[in-house]
This record gives sequence, structure tokens and C-alpha cells, in this order.
Amino acid sequence: MKPNLQYFSLLFLLCVEPGIAGPRIDCLPEPSGNQTVCESRGCIWNPVDNDIDGAPWCYFKDGVGYNLASQIGSTYILRKNNGPRNPWGADFENIQLRTSTIGGSVLNVKIGVDGRYEPPVDFPRETISTSETLSFTTASSDDLFWFSVIRNSTNRKIFDTSLGGLIFSDQFLQLSTYLPSENMYGWGENAHQSLKHNFSRYLTWGMLARDQPPNSGNLDTMNLYGVHPFYMCLEPDGNAHGVFIFNSNPQEVTTAPGPSLIYRTIGGNLDIYFFPGPTPALVTQQYLAFIGKPFLPSYWALGYQLSRYGYSGLDEMKQRVGAVRDAGIPLDIAVADIDYMNRYKDFSTNDNWAGFEDYVKQMHGWNMKMIPIFDPAVEADYLPFQRAMSMGAKFIEWDDYSQVQQDIQKLYPMAKDTKIMLGVVWPDHHVGFPDFLDSTGKTQAWWRDELELYHSKLTFDGIWIDMNEPANFGTNELHPWYFDDNDHPNDAPLFCPTNGSNQWDLPLFQTHAVYYYGGNQNNAYLSSKTLCLTGVQNNGSYRFYDVKNLYGLTEAIQTQAALMDVTGKRGAVVSRSTFPSAGRYAGHWLGDNTARWEDLRTSVIGAQEFNLFGIPYVGSDVCGFLGQSNEELCLRWQQMGAFHSFFRNHNTLGEPAQDPAVWPSVASATKTANLFRYQYLPYLFSLHFQASQNGLTVVHFPKTSFCFLQYKCGVIVERRYYDTLMLQFLRCEEIPSSILVAPVLYQGAVTTNLYLPNDVWYSLFDYKYGSQIDAGYIIVPSPTTYRIPVFVRGGSAVPRQTPTTTTTMSRHNPFELLVAPCQMGRAVGVLYWDDGQKIVDSFDTHDFHQFNFNYNSTSSGAQLTISRTRKGTVVLPTMDIIEIFNYPSPPNFRSFTLNGSTVNINVQSSTYSGITKTLYISTKNLIDLTSSDVISLVWSNVLK
Ligand code: GLC
Repeated sequence: MKPNLQYFSLLFLLCVEPGIAGPRIDCLPEPSGNQTVCESRGCIWNPVDNDIDGAPWCYFKDGVGYNLASQIGSTYILRKNNGPRNPWGADFENIQLRTSTIGGSVLNVKIGVDGRYEPPVDFPRETISTSETLSFTTASSDDLFWFSVIRNSTNRKIFDTSLGGLIFSDQFLQLSTYLPSENMYGWGENAHQSLKHNFSRYLTWGMLARDQPPNSGNLDTMNLYGVHPFYMCLEPDGNAHGVFIFNSNPQEVTTAPGPSLIYRTIGGNLDIYFFPGPTPALVTQQYLAFIGKPFLPSYWALGYQLSRYGYSGLDEMKQRVGAVRDAGIPLDIAVADIDYMNRYKDFSTNDNWAGFEDYVKQMHGWNMKMIPIFDPAVEADYLPFQRAMSMGAKFIEWDDYSQVQQDIQKLYPMAKDTKIMLGVVWPDHHVGFPDFLDSTGKTQAWWRDELELYHSKLTFDGIWIDMNEPANFGTNELHPWYFDDNDHPNDAPLFCPTNGSNQWDLPLFQTHAVYYYGGNQNNAYLSSKTLCLTGVQNNGSYRFYDVKNLYGLTEAIQTQAALMDVTGKRGAVVSRSTFPSAGRYAGHWLGDNTARWEDLRTSVIGAQEFNLFGIPYVGSDVCGFLGQSNEELCLRWQQMGAFHSFFRNHNTLGEPAQDPAVWPSVASATKTANLFRYQYLPYLFSLHFQASQNGLTVVHFPKTSFCFLQYKCGVIVERRYYDTLMLQFLRCEEIPSSILVAPVLYQGAVTTNLYLPNDVWYSLFDYKYGSQIDAGYIIVPSPTTYRIPVFVRGGSAVPRQTPTTTTTMSRHNPFELLVAPCQMGRAVGVLYWDDGQKIVDSFDTHDFHQFNFNYNSTSSGAQLTISRTRKGTVVLPTMDIIEIFNYPSPPNFRSFTLNGSTVNINVQSSTYSGITKTLYISTKNLIDLTSSDVISLVWSNVLK
């Protein structure tokens, strides 16, 4: 077995030599360049830099930036200084820097020029009250202005732009800062191989929404489907802060020694928000209060989903769903990929899917749900498009009639006289891309009506939105891949203005998304795999160059609204492309991963990052999408995926089936894993409820285990535990009940090395189930026949329910409570419960129950108090089972009272083990949770 040494390796942090020159700011990020080009830009050419990986050979001289011209209150006028000038366009001579504080705690520093593009995203901009404050200070020397952001309580600089490099031109903006520590997490969407960034070298991460499968096989800094300019940083003393740069243009960030960050974007302003924390949880709460809290998925959406691309027809879907059900594997959702459509056209059904409506009804009868895929682009020659045109719906357009690609346009009478930018996606003929930024409401009305019309035929329950970067096949390619595909006609590809000069399609600086395109590919453009950046939306008021990264978000907003309107229920939408605040409307899956162990590992990290980004309904394509999966990998992925909120097995066209019923061992492991998930669904749902109500994460890294050794050049001067375990995750620490999962992520592993943070932990898996496990580094057995290592933290009272094979049926089963006391014999927990599907307009008026659990034991007995802190109308099952770990001595089963009245405990089904110290109380209808606002179950122990 390969030991899982990854956990330990992160302990070795870079020791930055004092006195070393500041990080280099790249002056030649383009792939082709040389000393001559470098020096013609006035930059320094020096290929040697202490062998630091990725150090730019061509870098700016010191002094790039602005000086302070004047200041009125919190507005600073900055003037371009005498330092080096920008190679990518004329510097603005004067820019403004304005600071403000939102709600007393969030600091906004906005560097910009009035009248420039601002992303049309409507954040709630709420704040969380905290006594923690940040202050803004400026300094200047030698013609250079810089600023810092300081945490007032500790006087720590959390942002410090003194390394220079501020550039502000129309299409190139740059800002650099030192960070207070290397413990920085976030930025996306990229495939990160560790949760914590690596500042021992230079790495530039692209941020442009593109149909780009993650490559987890090796370190790969390309941009993926969404854009999240947000990071969280843990300072040396353990305080945490967050930083969000509100910018939607193509952009990138370089992580560099220092530790430092160099951020570049090619439009908009530098609109920066600082969230003071000081705990990681508070940072998340502050960020999510600002951008918007995640939607609450329907209860059923937390069930297991079975999907694949490439079902040969409805019969194959029926067969695979049937096989999984027959294997007794809990399954809630059948997912239909584009195969169900007639020639991949939205709102149509393929002939070999005849009877799909009846099958969906049948599945509903089994308490299952159905989620179909809808791609945004619609073919320009069929009824939905015609209806769009007659309703006045908008599509992404060319800026000017003269740009329209007439060879394509003339083929489509309905689009012939329009500026609609036609492209190619899955359907046979050219497609138009709905303009979800259309402010007339007509596009939204049309999208909703189409979904309603289709829903009247096929009663879907949720919606999967894909290809919404938006993806376009073969842009600028003479011979796109689909020319060689039997299933796709040779439609003329879209060509963008990439010859000569074009401000939007060929900006002077094109970002990492072009310079490093899936591995330094030539002929890459910003428009590769998407539409031309010169396009416009909302009747010409937005340039696609500016708003492209918002396409997935805006589609999600309108799709969720339509789904709720059409079904009358909250359902669930899952989107491939996302931007900050997308979590309010949709969940996300991590895209077209590959059936490899590396991808299993990065999906653990990806899910944690998307929790930080406010999209907790997240998961990966279980068993791997691209490539052929195999029994062991699929088994481990099923086991891990059972702990992610979005839990879907998905496979690509042409690969053999990989649903769990394919292999008996995977079927059995999946059944075990899913039953455990379904048993703990009340807890998972409660975490989502809290995340939605209060803006929290559902899974995240164990903060208290973040292990951080601070070196002063070789000597450990401080040892704190903050970070190492990027590959383990906790189910939320905000409610004291916490479940820690250490998934098995290596081929051939039969044991797992893991780290339990300093606390009381009990095993929840097959190894010493119910026993206390010592904190620290441990090795536990993890054969495939066991549940993966999972632990509950002492002090937790975790609600659960007897599981069955659908979430709907499980909801009718009796509640249970798992009590895992801390050393003091105490435990607390919470349960949120609603009908699982009503639309949440506001938590103030939403119909839900909230119960708080409080458990206390002494040597003579114990008491469990259940307080109803919110009264809903939904009828709940009774709580029949209470399982208590570390119970010191035999209870007197005859001594139990419930609010003072004697209760008869079923002594046949209730047990106490003096060996494992587990008390299992099981009595039918033991506690009616709604019988009183405060319920107290009290008992004493057998007298010695
Ligand atoms: C995209 C999606 C993938 C889907 C396929 C066909 O590649 O990311 O999940 O199966 O399109 O719709």
C-alpha cells in the first residue's frame, strides 16, 4: 500500500530569506518573447532568480505605479508616476481610489475611473456585525503610492501593496500585494492539487469561464468553467480574513514568493472587498452576506443521482436505474443527458425515448425524481427559436451588421436579418445563445415559457444547465473536431475578428487563458471554445468581453426562477459555469473530470473550495467522466461522493457503464455508503439549512487541524495547528456536531493515514465503531468492505433517521439521535426540518421546525433536553432511537421519565454494553418532537 504521505509533506513551509529582493512582476507573460522584446518594454531581462520555479525572466523595474496627487476625505486622486509605463496600452494619467466601510466591518477599496464598466450583478451587500475592524493606511516614497489594510485588533497588515506594480489602463489593470502568510485558499475555478496555495514558486492561475475539463494528472493552472476572484487567508496568529475582487473580465492571479499576489484583469475596475473574520467561519459568513447566501436545495436533491452521457435510449436508462434499484442501493434521481433530446435540441424528445413521460411518472411513483439537462443555445430553425423571435427575446449579437457571418446567417430565414451571433454546439444546425442579461424581461419570459411547455409534457423536478460558459464548438478553427464526428454535421464554424486588430477579440494583453490554453497551444484566443468577445448583450449595452464570465450566473438566475414558477417547488438547479453569488440560484459539479485517482483527490479539494465560494451544493462526477473507470476507483469514489452534497455518478459517451450495479463489490460498498448518507440526511439537510440561513459552509477543511509551523529560517519558533489535511473534510464546525471524513484516495490502500485534530473523536465506521479514538496522526484499517474512515466529534448530538432507498421514504422513518459526548459528558446539536420542497421566500416566514438538543450526563444518570426554537406545521415522525457513546455505566431502563412522566423503555431492543460503553435506547414512539416546546428525557443509572 502506498502510504498517504501527502498530509505530512505540507508541513514544510518555505522559509523566505530576509533581505531577498521582492518578487518579480512579469513583464512578458506572452509565450513568445525574448530579451529584445523585454528590453523594448523597458523591463529587466534576467533569467536567473535563485532557481525559484516559474520566476519571470523579464520583469518590471521598481517604481511602476502612481503617486498621490490629492486627497479629499477617503477619496485619493492618483497620478501616473515617473516609473515604468504599461506595455499593454496607455496608462490612465489620473485614477481614483475610494475607500468605504460597509456595515462597520467590510472594507471596500475601489481603484477606478468613473464611467467604466461595472458588472451587472445584484449582490445583497449585507453585513454581519462584528467588533473586528480593518483600517486603510497609505504611504508613499520616491514617487510611489501604496496602501495597506490593517487588522486593528492585532495591528497586522493583511494587504500591502508596497511591492509596487499598480497599473491602470483601459484594458490592462494590475495590482500586487504582500500577504501576511502563505496560508491562502481559494481563487477559481482551477484544478488545485492542494487546498493551500504554494508560494515557494511563481504560478499564474487563469480565470475565464471556458468549456475546459480539469486536468488533475499534473499541476495545471488553466482556467476552468467559472470565475471566483475570492481568497481566504489565515494570518500567523490564526485570525482569518477574506478578499473579494469584484471584476468580471478575463483575469488571472499569480501566486509568488513573498508571499505575494499579482492580480491582473483586462477591464472594469479594481473593486476590492476585505472581510475581517476573524475566524474562517466568520469570513465565510461575511462574504456570503455580501454576495448572497446559498439556496436551500430540495430535500430529495440530497439523494443519490444516476447519470450518464450516451444512453442508447430510454430502455438503457430503465435498465441501469433498474439494476441499481434491484441491488438495493438508495437512489433518488435519474438524470437525463442530451441523449433524451431529438438531435440534441432543447425542449424536444428523441424518438428512442418514446414513453419517457410515462417512465418519469413511474419513477415519481417510486418516490424518485428526474433531472434533465438543458443547454442554453437553441437551434435557429425550429419552434422554440421561432417563439423566441416572435416574443422579442434576445440573443447574444454581433455589435454591428457588417460583422455578421453571412455564410451562416443566410441559412436561417428567422435569423437572416438579425445580428444574432450564430454558433455551433450539440444540435445539428447553428444555434443562438439567449441573452440572459436582456433587461426587457422578454428573454426571461420566453425561457420560462419554453420550460413550462416542456414540463407540461415531461414532469421534470430539477434542471441541469450545462455548456453555459457559454461553450461554442470550433470557434476560429478551420477544421473543428466535429468535422470528424459521425454524429455532427460539418456546420461552418464561427470566426471572430482575430486578424489584424480588434479591441475585444485581440486585446493587447490576452491573459493566461490565451497564453496558456490547455498547455501552451498555439492559435488560442479569448474566443476559443466560446463566442466572439466583440459580441454584445442587452441591446448593445454590454460587451461580451465584459460579461462573458456572467453567462452561467445569469442563466442560473433565470432558470431557477423559471423552475420555481413552473413547478411551484424549490427543486434544484445545477450549473457548470458559476460566478460569485451563483450559489444563491444553483449548485455546481466540478465538470468533465477523468476516471483517475488524481481526479478523485482534486474533487475533495474542489468541493471545499466551492463551499468557500458560497456554492455548497457541489460534487464531482462520481467514478470519473472521461476515460474508463474501474472497479476499485469507482468503489472509492462512490464511498467519498456519499459525503458530498451533490452526489451523482456520471459517465461520458462511449465508455462502459460505471453505475454501481456493474460490479458486485461496488454495489455493496455503495449500498453501505448510501445507507449511511441517507441515515445522516437530517444532519446534512440541517447543515444546508444553516448554510442558507446564515451563509455557512457545509463541508470544509478542519480549521482546528490546520497545522502551521512558523520557521524563522530553519528554527521552529511557533507551532500551531491550522492546516495540513486538505484531503480530509469536516461536515461543518459551526454547529458543534461535526463529522470528519478521511476518504480513501489511493489505489490499493487498505489502511488510511489520517490526522484527528486535538479533540474527542469517536469512530463511526467499521473499525471500533462507537469507541473513542485518540487525536493525532493515526493509521486505521480501510478495506473496501468498510465504510471509509468517518468520525464524530465529542460534544455532538447528531440527528439522523432510519434510512431506506429514497429520501422521501426515509423522511417517514423514525428520527434517531446520535450522542457523542465530550469529556464533560455533554453534547449539543440541532435539527432543521421543513416539508423538503416549499420555496423559501424568506426564513422569517418559511414554514420550518428547529429543535435544539442538549445532553448532559453525570455518574448517576443523564438528561436529554429537546427545545423547539421554531414551530413549523410539518408533521414529523417520532424520535425512537438514541444512541449514546461513552456512556459510563449501566442505565436503569425503568427509571426513564419524559417531562416527568414515566416512559416504558423497550428493554428487548435497548442495550448497554459495558465493553464498548454504548447505550442504545430504542422504543417505538419514544419522543413526539412536537408534543411540547421543551422535552426532557431523564434517567438514572443502576446503583452500584
Ligand atoms: C458536457 C458536460 C457533460 C455532459 C456532456 C453532454 O461535456 O460537461 O457533463 O455529459 O456535455 O451533454
